[in-house]
Amino acid sequence: MSPGLSSWQLLLLCLGVFRQEARVEAQAGSVPSAAKTLVWGPGLEANIVLPARFLYIQAVDGSGKNFTTSPGEKTFEVKIVSPAEQFTRIWTQILDRQDGSFLVRYRMYATYTDLHIHILLKGKHVAKSPFILKGPVYHEGCNCPQPSGSVWEAHMHCPPSYPQIDRDLSLFGSVDPDRNAQEIPKRFGQRQSLCHYTIKDNKVYVQTYGEHVGFRIFMDAILLSLTRKVQLPDMEFFVNLGDWPLEKRKPTENIHPIFSWCGSNNTRDIVMPTYDLTESVLETMGRVSLDMMSVQANTGPRWSEKNATAFWRGRDSRQERLELVKLSRAHPTMIDAAFTNFFFFKHDESLYGPLVKHVSFFDFFKYKYQINIDGTVAAYRLPYLLAGDSVVLKQDSGYYEHFYNELTPWEHYIPIRADLGDLLEKIQWAREHDKEAEKIALAGQQFARSHLMGDRIFCYYYKLFKEYARLQVTQPKVRKGMEFVEQPTDDLFPCYCHRTTTKDEL
Ligand SMILES: *[C@@H]1O[C@H](CO)[C@@H](O)[C@H](O)[C@H]1NC(C)=O
Ligand SMILES: *[C@@H]1O[C@H](CO)[C@@H](O)[C@H](O)[C@H]1NC(C)=O
Ligand SMILES: *[C@@H]1O[C@H](CO)[C@@H](O)[C@H](O)[C@H]1NC(C)=O
Repeated sequence: MSPGLSSWQLLLLCLGVFRQEARVEAQAGSVPSAAKTLVWGPGLEANIVLPARFLYIQAVDGSGKNFTTSPGEKTFEVKIVSPAEQFTRIWTQILDRQDGSFLVRYRMYATYTDLHIHILLKGKHVAKSPFILKGPVYHEGCNCPQPSGSVWEAHMHCPPSYPQIDRDLSLFGSVDPDRNAQEIPKRFGQRQSLCHYTIKDNKVYVQTYGEHVGFRIFMDAILLSLTRKVQLPDMEFFVNLGDWPLEKRKPTENIHPIFSWCGSNNTRDIVMPTYDLTESVLETMGRVSLDMMSVQANTGPRWSEKNATAFWRGRDSRQERLELVKLSRAHPTMIDAAFTNFFFFKHDESLYGPLVKHVSFFDFFKYKYQINIDGTVAAYRLPYLLAGDSVVLKQDSGYYEHFYNELTPWEHYIPIRADLGDLLEKIQWAREHDKEAEKIALAGQQFARSHLMGDRIFCYYYKLFKEYARLQVTQPKVRKGMEFVEQPTDDLFPCYCHRTTTKDEL
């Protein structure tokens, strides 16, 4: 794998920001009620530290009925201040989800003693506004780990378990860091790109193997971010930086624990949220537009106005993608699928048509039916597709991401065969069962909203590391050849971490 950007990422970077025409009309005659409107979410809790904090507003009218269309983009006003400070450096954005609800995100550039969140409707306080977060309210850059993992998990409202973690780790009765430090580099270090990490006293150390280690930045970033928030157990583990999962041995053989961004039916790697989703949560690189939050405000026209042709754009990274484009050329009224890039196969224009220009991801949601088809491995766009309000037609695949296990076919997506043999049939089904298809679209969206946001991603990593660390039967060590991965220094807004002096929060 090249350490450069994949075309998928390029497509993300090339996004033009697509603004849909405001759909202002609310339910006939109704106006939101400041008293009845609902406000909730992790952004109302001081102890949930995230790179971008977020909360939700659901517009409710005077009779207690939820709005299901936008009451107007500018309906609510959000002001976040710290009364003790002269200036509050907080970037706030209100995202209109067009379904009567709003996603408010804010990013703090400094740590504050108290934070007051004012949510206003025509100058009147909404629900229990102002919401007061008793400080200290730490910002993302503050290195202030909660010493107790279980306290942190409780603050974060982490789910008690993740089925994928249980499944992945069930193959390992124990993990021997000493042995792995010997065997894994020998087995994979020559041909693959790997990182060997040690976490010791909540500090991160790493040694890389292989040539293409550029993707290490994603792993370093999540580890540094996590260790600023919570004390991680001492542990030692290997991360596969390549696309393909590596551990092909049978569970009965001497299998090695390898952390990968993608799992497969034929391998035993331990999956983590993909680097793409992780980066979307961390926003370390100042992501241009596509992340799990902005996508929620850009889901295109409402269902009844979406185009009933199935849609797909991408590059030629797998044979089935070629088949899909051929199918589209034979049935253009059913499928609009085209390549934006040719890289892996020889481009035959008579078979696959001309290359087309990149389409903004937000424009995908002008179409009702989104085809999700493997690329090199699993298509990492699935979280974003689910977050929209189109229905996903998901190819059966041997590849999976950390959350696929929790998805149910016909509930969250419409399944299609791996060879796409039933794709036309499934599109036809969706066209003839419009209400059911819409319901699946909304269930998928609900799943993305509740399972694929930043708080859950942090919980997943923490849980995975905690459970894994428990399996270790020898002491994790900082090995010869490892380098210390330093926390970025925040000279501009240093923070005072109260936890390093008082332990009474335990
Ligand atoms: C109104 O919206 C809130 C927030 O999404 C939800 O919890 C609640 O069940 C909805 N109420 C009704 C009556 O649909
Ligand atoms: C729907 O999309 C297809 C393919 O992109 C296009 O040919 C067709 O004109 C669109 N239909 C409408 C009603 O806009
Ligand atoms: C992979 O495994 C899942 C779960 O056992 C199964 O549903 C799916 O059909 C398999 N897919 C392929 C292509 O092997």
